[in-house]
Parts: sequence; structure tokens; C-alpha cells
Amino acid sequence: MIWHNGVYFVQCHVLAVKLTKIISLFNQAGGVAKSTTAQNLGYHLSIRRHRVLLIDIDPQGSLTTFMGLEPADLEKTIYDALVSESDEPIPIHRDLDGIDLAPANILLANAEQELIFAELREFRLKEILAPLLDSYDFILIDCPPSLGILSQISLVASTHVLVPIQCQFKALKGTDSLLKTVARVQRKLNRSLKIAGFFPTMYSASNSLDQRTLESIREQLSSLATIFPPPTSCYSSGRSS
Ligand SMILES: Nc1ncnc2c1ncn2[C@@H]1O[C@H](COP(=O)(O)OP(=O)(O)OP(=O)(O)O)[C@@H](O)[C@H]1O
Ligand SMILES: [Mg+2]
Repeated sequence: MIWHNGVYFVQCHVLAVKLTKIISLFNQAGGVAKSTTAQNLGYHLSIRRHRVLLIDIDPQGSLTTFMGLEPADLEKTIYDALVSESDEPIPIHRDLDGIDLAPANILLANAEQELIFAELREFRLKEILAPLLDSYDFILIDCPPSLGILSQISLVASTHVLVPIQCQFKALKGTDSLLKTVARVQRKLNRSLKIAGFFPTMYSASNSLDQRTLESIREQLSSLATIFPPPTSCYSSGRSS
């Protein structure tokens, strides 16, 4: 029952916070299709009329490139908002085929160093995302291939983590450290972080090695979270090419 304007406001705000799903695409292994998955998931969600913001938090700027921007040409990126001491808003490129993007470029590599001494640095991304929550249904964060501070602040800011996992022989190598990192964040910094699931990528149904790898992934990880069916095709739509 709502009997006060203030309560009503708080309820609406909490509802908005709860409704915005913030999903980190996270795996410290390189080249497992994190950026490709972020882009494709973003498009599929936007086709279903969800309001989607992609955040590129990788200094390589792959997602930025996939979305058709040239990282080196950008004057403002997520880096500026992260290190700003004057509440600089996140720079957003709007409506790139129906999706918004906060881009990154190589300057973001400096943030690792610059944030070391920042107060409450683990909450920095969460803090700068807060004003955007009412505007989006989904915020997808494309993490770099590392367990460093940029991945950590992404996990702290997220409601969910989705782990793309490449269907090849060393797919499960490093899963322990990945899960430990997620568990540490859940324990100390973000109790409500959930593992949305593992998403097998680059799977070829006709390849027996891929089939065996997928079986191992299911055997070893299905007790922890959902193993999504691998997509038949997971290529970048290649806006930039
Ligand atoms: N299903 C697929 N089949 C073949 N190649 C793919 C597939 N999905 C993605 N790729 C390609 O694999 C490469 C790595 O993909 P992507 O950049 O998405 O991985 P990543 O995990 O984000 O890499 P990084 O760890 O460097 O950020 C890209 O060239 C991409 O186009
Ligand atoms: Mg990437």
C-alpha cells in the first residue's frame, strides 16, 4: 500500500534499479567472443524493443570498433568519466542501429593505474552508471581479458555476470580463478551479483572435439549455473568492415 509521495518515489526508484539488468561479459581468457557476444546480445535485445546500452570497458576497444567507431578518433570515452573528479557524465553515442554505446580506447589502460589511489575505486563504475539506470532495460559491459581492476569494477556494478566460454580444448583452464574472482566480489563488494550462466562460443556441431569440450563444460559447470546452448553462429555483424 502506498500512502506517501516519498515512499512512492522510493518504490519507483528501487523498481527501476531492480529492472535494469546490468550484465558483465566476463572471462579473463582472451579471444573467447566476449565482445562479439556483447554486440550480438545487444542487437537481439534491442530488436525485442529493450533499451540497451553497451559499455566498452576494454582498452583494446574491440566493441567500439565492432560498433563502427574508430577508437583512436574519439575525444571522450568511458575513461574520462571513470577518472573525472567533477562528475563528468559517461559519453554515450546514441542509436548505433538501435543501441547506445559508451566507447573505449587505449587511454583506458591508464585508468588501471589512476584508479589505484582513488577512494572507493571498486564502486566507481557503479557510481557513474547510477544516473543512467532509468534510461535502459539492459546495460551490457564488455570486460577486458583480465582479472584486474577494470573487470572488478564491472562485476561490482553488475546485477549479473555472463561467461562466454570458447569450445576448445583449454576451455576450462582458468575457470577456477574466474570463479574465485566472482566469489570474492560477491562476498565483499556485491552480494547481489548472480552468475547468469556460461555461454559456449565458437562451437561447431560437426567437430567431435567441440562436442567433447561442450560435454566437459556441462559436466563441470552445470552445478554452478545455467549452460546456455551454443549459438549456431556468433559472428560480429561487422559494422566496421
Ligand atoms: N562464432 C565464431 N566463430 C569464429 N570466429 C568468431 C566467432 N565469434 C567471434 N569470432 C571472432 O573471434 C575473434 C575474437 O572475438 P572477440 O573479440 O569477440 O573475443 P573477446 O573475448 O572479446 O576477445 P578479447 O579477450 O581480446 O577481448 C574476433 O575476430 C571475432 O570476430
Ligand atoms: Mg573483447
